[in-house]
Amino acid sequence: MKLWGGRFSKNTDELMDDFNSSIHFDSRMYRQDILGSAAHVKMLGSCGIIAQNDAELIYKTLFEILEDIENGKVEYEVSAEDIHMNIETLLINRIGNVGKQLHTGRSRNDQVALDIRMYLKDEIITLKTMLKNLLEVLLRISEENLDTIMPGYTHLQKAQPITLAHHHMAYFQMFKRDIERLNDCTKRMNIMPLGSGALAGTTYPLNRQMVASELGFDSVTSNSLDGVSDRDFAIELASCLSIIMMHLSRFSEEIILWCTEEFSFIELDDAYSTGSSIMPQKKNPDVAELVRGKTGRVYGSLLSLLTVMKGLPLAYNKDMQEDKEAIFNAVDTVKLCLPIFTKMLDTMKINKESMYNAARGGFTNATDMADYLVKKGIPFRDSHEIIGRMVTYCLGKNISIDDMSMDEFKTFSDLIENDVYTAINLTTCVNERKITGGPAKESVIEQIKIGKEYISCDFL
Ligand code: ARG
Repeated sequence: MKLWGGRFSKNTDELMDDFNSSIHFDSRMYRQDILGSAAHVKMLGSCGIIAQNDAELIYKTLFEILEDIENGKVEYEVSAEDIHMNIETLLINRIGNVGKQLHTGRSRNDQVALDIRMYLKDEIITLKTMLKNLLEVLLRISEENLDTIMPGYTHLQKAQPITLAHHHMAYFQMFKRDIERLNDCTKRMNIMPLGSGALAGTTYPLNRQMVASELGFDSVTSNSLDGVSDRDFAIELASCLSIIMMHLSRFSEEIILWCTEEFSFIELDDAYSTGSSIMPQKKNPDVAELVRGKTGRVYGSLLSLLTVMKGLPLAYNKDMQEDKEAIFNAVDTVKLCLPIFTKMLDTMKINKESMYNAARGGFTNATDMADYLVKKGIPFRDSHEIIGRMVTYCLGKNISIDDMSMDEFKTFSDLIENDVYTAINLTTCVNERKITGGPAKESVIEQIKIGKEYISCDFL
């Protein structure tokens, strides 16, 4: 008989059991369910709501069940619907009537709200560790490439010279914000809903604060209807995860371009590349492509969650059982992508020469050439026009600005002197941009220093 079977005169159809059951996806919350129940029963005992020795027996048995689950000794029943009722059934099978007191002052509605919060809080810690590993690799590559000049792009057209360090530190900022967003999301997740009951709280004098402290929550929810029907925290997390994937996907796109023959900026390690079954020469960036592809799945989870919630009247509705697969899938996907992306990055070979040549070839110092004339007293707009003509001239001869002779320079402006060669040298162009946040070596060293301080602080 079902735990809620009293009101019913016949069994549910087998098809109904399968349709209604969530055990095959919510069983992963077994640990949180047991810890939540243990805290609840400890409180019931200490508040005198049930006998102390009964509370102790339930508490002890719950941990025996936990151990059995972890040793693979437990088989779940689809007919027991979900992880919450499966564990309660196991408890009652083991200790009979005493076990039937566990659910006093509680509903599955506040129980499931508690379990998901606990489960996701744990997952966020893992995600932050993974992001931290990625930040460490970005710092390492940046430190080693402070002088690695490459073209910076706008519109995917070569724009101005930067360094690989400056480029990677941009991603550092993005993934750092992702950690901050996860921390922020945790604040609103870390509020304890037990005591909300099914929707209208409970008449038992539960000590909610005690349960919250026992389980590491900052506070308790302030309204029982909201306590059981709020899934904002899952939506917020799915949104944080979508942004992480968007960042990984943009980076992947660059990696994919960079390892083409045309760019040849990097070579991926064999361990993180694949071949083609027909074309023997191929070495494909599958990691980056799969990460880019899986981004869609995480966005999909966010959209599912928003759509599941949009029409729900207060308070709990069974629709909300659909929250789990969506958020679990998003979490799993990001947990799959972050470590392999980090390893791919950590092992890639950087072709400094190709990067330098690409920066040299694309008139990336044209702005600096214009600034040179401004420093000699020509207004910027006029200078811009002169250099525009200079670029057209160089394109016609298939040379770079710095390849021109002094005589050629003089045909554009007699203010140009020999010091032009140093002024438009790529290293000068980069290192003169010492403004805070700029690509100059000294500026990037400062960014790295602040970055290192960040990852050594206690954000986990
Ligand atoms: N398995 C359910 C869920 O995930 C648990 C809550 C069920 N509550 C109810 N009143 N049917 O949402």
